[in-house]
Amino acid sequence: MATWSAPGKIFLFGEHAVVYGKPGIAMAIKPRVMVTVRKAKRQKKPNSSYIAECFRQMGVSGSVYVRSQLPSSSGLGSSAAVTVATLFAINDEFDIGKSPEELSSLAHIVEKNVQKGRASATDTYVSTVGGMVLITGNTKRRLPPQPIQLVIGNSLTHHNTSEMVGKVAELKRTRPQIADPIIDAIAAVTRCSMHHFNNPRELGNLMNMNHALLDALGVGHPQISRLVLAARAAGALGAKVTGAGGGGCMFALCSKSAKTRVAGAIEACDARAIITTIDTQGVRKEKDE
Ligand code: PMV
Repeated sequence: MATWSAPGKIFLFGEHAVVYGKPGIAMAIKPRVMVTVRKAKRQKKPNSSYIAECFRQMGVSGSVYVRSQLPSSSGLGSSAAVTVATLFAINDEFDIGKSPEELSSLAHIVEKNVQKGRASATDTYVSTVGGMVLITGNTKRRLPPQPIQLVIGNSLTHHNTSEMVGKVAELKRTRPQIADPIIDAIAAVTRCSMHHFNNPRELGNLMNMNHALLDALGVGHPQISRLVLAARAAGALGAKVTGAGGGGCMFALCSKSAKTRVAGAIEACDARAIITTIDTQGVRKEKDE
């Protein structure tokens, strides 16, 4: 039996644009998914299509037990965390001997297969290595981790990543003269943010701009807008949706002293607040029995 865990993530900047080769910056967060894999003669069909695909790719069968601190389908990378932890646990339990790099690439393939080709490597990479990462096309880079203080707001409305990615693709196809400049502007905001990680106020302004551009792309949701506005009114330095949008989660960048107030404002909007920060650790082994 092997138990591995992997962290969730938020998109600090650049979701959707990253699907078109533009830069995206993601950060691992403290809540994790724990996956236990055990050898088994006959495999019970897993509830999760991600887990089923992990076993298919690794060519083995076994039983799985998942415990998650992350809400699913909400922009916090729970499917990537499940995929990464499952692949590492299978690799360990069955002594398959793949390297962490191979497993990280395989995790991206699993996500792409389950999501019909629509997945950047962002979620699976940040869940594997932890900390902060920059993804541009096929290039993945680790960034120096920053002690970013966050309050996540879970709108409790699920979203569907492939559907939202499809919606942006459709806008690009039907109105490229509108969609392309918005995607270029998101990329400009992301590049600019790289020079302001030590300036929370400016970083917050850039997050607000990124949020407005995502709204313009059509991936907004009324409850997410409500949470973003409530967090800003309660003193957040900036707030934006994270991930595919159309529901799911937002987050607010906060000073340490404003975190509780911002969390209270989010909860007052019938949402769930998670106070968290960066997790510099990626996938890890939890125990060996
Ligand atoms: O909602 P999530 O956590 O699945 O994030 C999706 C982010 C997108 O940029 C919209 C798609 C992707 O694969 O990067």
